[in-house]
Amino acid sequence: MSDDLALSLPLAPSPAPPVQRPDRLLALPGVYRPDDDSWLLAEVVADESLAGADVVDLCTGSGVLAVTAGLAGGQVTAVDVCRRAVATARWNLRRHDVRGRVVRGALFEPLGERRYDAIVANPPYVPAARAASPSRGPRRAWDAGRDGRIVLDRLCAEAPRRLRPGGRVLLVQSEVADVPRTLEQLADGGLAPEVVARRAVPFGPVMRRRAARLVEHGLLPPGRRHEELVVVRAEAPR
Ligand SMILES: C[S@@+](CC[C@H](N)C(=O)[O-])C[C@H]1O[C@@H](n2cnc3c(N)ncnc32)[C@H](O)[C@@H]1O
Repeated sequence: MSDDLALSLPLAPSPAPPVQRPDRLLALPGVYRPDDDSWLLAEVVADESLAGADVVDLCTGSGVLAVTAGLAGGQVTAVDVCRRAVATARWNLRRHDVRGRVVRGALFEPLGERRYDAIVANPPYVPAARAASPSRGPRRAWDAGRDGRIVLDRLCAEAPRRLRPGGRVLLVQSEVADVPRTLEQLADGGLAPEVVARRAVPFGPVMRRRAARLVEHGLLPPGRRHEELVVVRAEAPR
């Protein structure tokens, strides 16, 4: 996670393997700029068969994953709690000629009872000193309570009943936020979860500041300078 909050700029793609990725993204100040986690999940999303699929991108930020899903042929809805993220994602969808809806709210709350063929999410997952999610500010993009699971737990609990038969959840998180628990929660919801991508990335500024605390709480082994990012794919029965 990077907390570099530079002014609105064209976003330079991070040095990851090539994918069919959005190349004209902008971000308002304070909106999460696509990082290693975004691009790792974008690679998986770009490889999915999404032509004509009804896709929701929760925690959309700049809209990078909504745009990726739209470029892969999905009919996209994107959601974020942050007003600036909503404005940014709308702008980025337009810049990439992706038709879709961007709405403000927490996870599934603004979506009524609708079900989807694919749920995509790069939620906040970094363990923090405070138990509650921040109500504002850039940390809302990564702080997720003491165990990093405030948003992940809600997402995993609710996603199964928001999928159509054969639909799938695609989410990314760090090893520090208990990947086995994600797999277990999704399986408890009747889905078939598996880890479909992993990448070790050097700590960004947020993780560098948190490392000592994470080691103290047993969430990272001592001496580590990198974290493993993991993409989980969980499919609903047909
Ligand atoms: C790690 S960023 C990911 C942004 C983008 N999807 C990406 O991959 O680059 C997480 C985003 O989740 C949003 N967010 C945090 N809590 C949320 C919630 N409960 N419901 C919806 N969005 C939330 C933040 O505003 C932020 O834009």
